[in-house]
Amino acid sequence: MSGLFTPFTLKDVTLRNRIAVPPMCQYSAVDGMSNEWHRVHYNSLARGGAGLVIVEATAVSPEGHIIPACLGIWNDEQAEKLAQIAREIKASSAVPGIQIGHAGRKASANKPWEGDDHIAADGAAGWETIAPSAVAFGQNLPRVPKAMTHADIQRVRDDFVRAAQRARDAGFEWLELHFAHGYLAQSFFSVHANQRTDEYGGDLAGRSRFLHETFDAVRAVWPENLPLTARFGVLEFDGRDEETLQESITLTKQWRENGLDLLSVSVGFSTPDANIPWGPAFLAPIAERVRREANIPVASAWGIDAPAIANQTIEKGQLDLVMVGRAHLKNPNWEYQAALALDKSEPSWGLPAPYAHWLERYR
Ligand code: FNR
Repeated sequence: MSGLFTPFTLKDVTLRNRIAVPPMCQYSAVDGMSNEWHRVHYNSLARGGAGLVIVEATAVSPEGHIIPACLGIWNDEQAEKLAQIAREIKASSAVPGIQIGHAGRKASANKPWEGDDHIAADGAAGWETIAPSAVAFGQNLPRVPKAMTHADIQRVRDDFVRAAQRARDAGFEWLELHFAHGYLAQSFFSVHANQRTDEYGGDLAGRSRFLHETFDAVRAVWPENLPLTARFGVLEFDGRDEETLQESITLTKQWRENGLDLLSVSVGFSTPDANIPWGPAFLAPIAERVRREANIPVASAWGIDAPAIANQTIEKGQLDLVMVGRAHLKNPNWEYQAALALDKSEPSWGLPAPYAHWLERYR
């Protein structure tokens, strides 16, 4: 059996294979509430055969939305709807995961297909954004955020804790903290965004403090037997990559000691002036270094959509888990296609029997 189709166990959770659907915002919610779109979307991905389906970036508070149509998990009504999605993913034999986050200075934006920029400063739909410092991202996201007070920092940490508790009670079995992609947590770590002179800025310890405190607070409420993971941009491709990567590995080692179960290795996206070397599986060697030096299981995404490449990243020990994003939007049954390509003996059996029987019988 190819490495891609071997089960993966983390804490008390076993994925049927090494394939995960990474969080992908659907920008289709109203007041943070999931609806029929989300139910059908997530269930079809789970039926397709992925081991893990991670529900998109779900805001821990209204101000933490990227755009008004993001999912939220700051009230019980939202959590109840999400519980239905978690149940359905599980009924389709995938593990239900969820990513919780706060968009920081990238919040208050328009949909990607309606501008992908900040809502105009005088636009009624927009809101005041917060960040470590009053520094805008720039380019399409020019809104200047409010620098967070200590009370803001404590409030957001508490919002993460309540969101994690709701996610747990809703039946999610895999939690991913969104500490990546230039959103709030990543911007505390980033020298591009964090210019604080108090204990939440400055050196590595200062720029990591918000991430550690938030992580530790969530760890205290998330069940010990279930995976607690984070997605984090370990570098920016901004010319300071070795330095940032070393800092990221130090941070990851500390997280591991404090109970992080897996790191989803990604890019920081904290500056518009990055020079990212896009290409098939371009992050896999970097993820492998984090895996080796921090001694922690890793996942990664970005251009891992060819079955042979996905399989290689697992068999070469670069990744423990492959995140296949846009290829799943193209084909929710990507696992079937991958299994056919990799010569698995009964490729259709990742699919439910009412599909698998016929595909196998007439193959
Ligand atoms: C994303 N991505 C993303 N990442 C994340 O951490 N949280 C999120 O909610 C989203 N939302 C999102 C929406 C859509 C429509 C896309 C295409 C992407 C990034 C995503 O998880 C993944 O890293 C990328 O899609 C790269 O992987 P692929 O598509 O090359 O396999």
